[in-house]
Amino acid sequence: MKNNLRILAIQVLMLASFVCKAQDAVQSVYKEEHRPQLHFSPKAHWINDPNGMVYFNNTYHLFYQYYPNGTIWGPMHWGHATSTDLFHWKELPIALYPDSLGYIFSGSAVADVNNTSGFGKGGKIPLIAIFTHHDPKGEKENTDKFQNQSLAYSLDEGVTWTKYNGNPVLKNPGIRDFRDPKVMWYAAEKKWVMTLATKDRITFYSAPDLKTWKKESEFGLTIGAHGGVWECPDLFPLQLGGKTYWVLLVNLNPGGPNGGSATQYFVGQFDGKTFTPADTKTRWIDYGPDEYAGVTWSNTGVRKIFLGWMTNWSYANQVPTVAWRNAMTIPRELSLKKMNGQLLVASTPVKEIKNIVAATPVISLNPSQVYNLPAQSELKISTAQIQDIVVTFSNANGERVTVGYDKQANQYYIDRTQSGKTDFQKSFKGRFVAPRFTSANNADITLVVDAASVELFADNGLTVMTGIYFPNATFNKVSVSGSKDLKIKLTELTSIHNR
Ligand code: FRU
Repeated sequence: MKNNLRILAIQVLMLASFVCKAQDAVQSVYKEEHRPQLHFSPKAHWINDPNGMVYFNNTYHLFYQYYPNGTIWGPMHWGHATSTDLFHWKELPIALYPDSLGYIFSGSAVADVNNTSGFGKGGKIPLIAIFTHHDPKGEKENTDKFQNQSLAYSLDEGVTWTKYNGNPVLKNPGIRDFRDPKVMWYAAEKKWVMTLATKDRITFYSAPDLKTWKKESEFGLTIGAHGGVWECPDLFPLQLGGKTYWVLLVNLNPGGPNGGSATQYFVGQFDGKTFTPADTKTRWIDYGPDEYAGVTWSNTGVRKIFLGWMTNWSYANQVPTVAWRNAMTIPRELSLKKMNGQLLVASTPVKEIKNIVAATPVISLNPSQVYNLPAQSELKISTAQIQDIVVTFSNANGERVTVGYDKQANQYYIDRTQSGKTDFQKSFKGRFVAPRFTSANNADITLVVDAASVELFADNGLTVMTGIYFPNATFNKVSVSGSKDLKIKLTELTSIHNR
C-alpha cells in the first residue's frame, strides 16, 4: 500500500513537471529572436501574401499563403487567423489545402449577403473564397494554362470550407501569369467585379453569381511600372470632398522603387467595366523595401484597411529566423488626399493601435539625447520647420538602423547598412529613400518600431516606408537629432502575445 502511494506521488510529480514544461514551451513560442511583437506572424513555418481578408460578424479574417511543412516557400495552402481588433490574432486550422487542381495561390473572400452564389443554406450567409488554383504539373509541362480561378465556401464563419464542384470557374485562356483574383460587389449594377493580374496588365471580369465570369476590359499594358510581373491587385472606391474615386492597387515583382517587390497604385474612375486613371504617374503605397502583396479587407463599409506582407521576394526565403519565416505589416487605414493637383493615397496605422498602448507614461524626448528604447514602441516626431531629422535605433554591439529626412535631397529614408545580420542576401544591406509629397514647412513623422522592423508614416501618411532588420541584440537605445524645435514623443506599446 505504502509503495502504491509512493508510485502515485511520483506519477503526480512527473505529470506536474510535464505540464509546467509544456506551458514553458508555449510561452517561449512567441519569444524567439527577431519575433515580431506587434505584427502578425505564424506560430511556425512559412507565410507570404495576405489572402481572403474579409470582415464578418465583428471579426477580421486574415487568410494567408502558408506552407505548413517548412520555412521556405512550398506547396501553398491558405492559413487562417482571426482578430476583433486587428492586432491580437488567433491562429485557426488551415482553411484550404492543395488538391487535384493544384496549389492554393492568392485570392480574396467576400460575404455573399444576397446569396447570389446559392451556396447559402438555412438563411446562413456564405463566405466565399475566390482563389487561384496553380497546377504544378501543368507548369512543368510548360502548358501556359496552369493557373485558373476557383471557389470555396464556408457556412461556419470561415472555419471549414467546401470547394465548389464546378471548379475552376474562370479558365485560363493561355496566359502564363493569370492569378490573384480580388472580388468586390459593384452595387450600381448588382454584379461582382473581379480584378485579376494577367501578366503585364490587369483584366476586369464581372459575374452575377461569382461563377459565370465575363471579361469586361484590360488596363495597364502601357501605364505604370513594368519591371516585373503584375500580381495581387485590388480595386475599391474612396471618397474625397464628397466625390467618389477608385483606387487600383497593383503589386509588382520585381521592379519596386527600392528594388524587388512593391505595391504601386493608380487613382481614377471605374464605371463597372473600365478603369480610367486620372494621370499616368507611377506611385507606391510604401516606398520601403518591405511591403508586398498588400490589399484591403472586404466588407468594411467606407473604411479601407490595408495589410501587406512585410518582406521582399529578393530575400524572403533567406531572412534569418528559425521557427517561422516572415510577417505582415501593421494594418493601415487608407485615405485620399489632393496635393498640388495630384490625387494621392495616404496610409496611417489603424486607430485600433490605441488598444496596445502600454500603461507606462508617454515620454517626451529631447533632441540628440540617448534614451532607453522599449521592446516595441511608437515614436511621434513633429516640427514647425522641417530640417534634417535623424532617428537612430542602436544596441551595445554598435549595430544600428537610422531613419529620417534628408532636407537637401527632400527625401525620407531608412538605412540598415549596419543593422546586424545583413549578409544572407546581397541586396538586403542598404539605404532606401522615398520622396516627400508636400512642400509644407511643418512635418510629422510616426514610427512604429518592433523587434525586427520599423514603419515610417510621414506627413499624415503621404510617404510610407517599411524596413525589416535582424540585429544580434535587440535595439534598446534611441536618439533623435535635428532642429531644436523638434517635438518627440515615445509611447511604449504592449506585445500582442501577452494576454
Ligand atoms: C505574390 C505571389 C502571387 C501568388 C502567390 C504564390 O507574392 O507570387 O502572385 O499567387 O505569391 O504564393
